[in-house]
Amino acid sequence: MPKITFLPMNTSFEVKRDQSILDIALDHQVPLQHACGGFCACTTCHIIVKSGADSLSPMEDEEQERLERMGILDENSRLGCQSKVRGDVVVEVVNIDDH
Ligand code: FES
Repeated sequence: MPKITFLPMNTSFEVKRDQSILDIALDHQVPLQHACGGFCACTTCHIIVKSGADSLSPMEDEEQERLERMGILDENSRLGCQSKVRGDVVVEVVNIDDH
């Protein structure tokens, strides 16, 4: 099973292939923001891939356009709601949900 590690909390989970990072976070109470509810419309679920970028589903045009429109140009940036886990990956949560 693929394994995902969330930083900075440094918690890891074995997950089903093709689950989105946002869904995994919600299942495990990882505080990843998701203002639009996972519809690629807000970028609050922004994460930075620390390792295993090839273990995520490829970026679709909609995700790329959303990141660019928000001025997020880091090549390691992804949207958690659009990234599906297919292998081992380490990601850093950018916007920690403190509610
Ligand atoms: S939750 Fe809004 S873009 Fe991912």
